[in-house]
Amino acid sequence: MNTLEKARIGDVPHMHKLINNFANKGEMLPRSLSEIYENIRDYYVIREGERIIACAALHVNWSDLAEIKSVAVARDSQRKKLGYQMVSACLGEAKQIGIPTVFCLTYKPAFFEQLGFSQVDKMELPQKVWNECYRCPKFPNCDEVALVYHLDLEV
Ligand SMILES: CC(C)(COP(=O)(O)OP(=O)(O)OC[C@H]1O[C@@H](n2cnc3c(N)ncnc32)[C@H](O)[C@@H]1OP(=O)(O)O)[C@@H](O)C(=O)NCCC(=O)NCCS
Repeated sequence: MNTLEKARIGDVPHMHKLINNFANKGEMLPRSLSEIYENIRDYYVIREGERIIACAALHVNWSDLAEIKSVAVARDSQRKKLGYQMVSACLGEAKQIGIPTVFCLTYKPAFFEQLGFSQVDKMELPQKVWNECYRCPKFPNCDEVALVYHLDLEV
């Protein structure tokens, strides 16, 4: 049985491996162990027994904005709606804490569009979101696509 829950500190090496296996193939950006440890409270995981088969993070940027980061589903578990479940958990948390807009930067815009995100010009995102870009191996030639999701906080 699969369980979706907040990540635990012992999950970090497994999430690091999952993310960086995809990053090494150019599918997503890499994350260092220290970045994941420092932001452990942002992460969700899906466990299958002892194994971590998916992870994703919701990182709050400002009073009205959060980012979904590092959505990764193990190759042999893809196309079973685990990515959808991870993104839904992140959106649910954003709504719960009262954040109206969630964005992501990705090489897989079609996956996020399927979940209701819309593409925007990266330059429309506030400058605040670029503060970690200097650590990105691609800086300053960002080739990710930006998408946003607007939450209805009234419902
Ligand atoms: C992208 C990724 C997270 C999708 O996870 P997943 O669990 O396979 O996706 P889901 O099963 O929840 O897919 C939901 C829907 O999104 C769409 N979708 C899923 N993967 C997609 C892809 N690679 N490209 C385009 N659309 C995709 C499909 O419409 C899918 O529904 P369907 O299977 O009924 O057609 C996963 O392929 C992955 O981890 N890839 C490597 C890392 C990565 O690229 N992360 C991107 C975010 S930074």
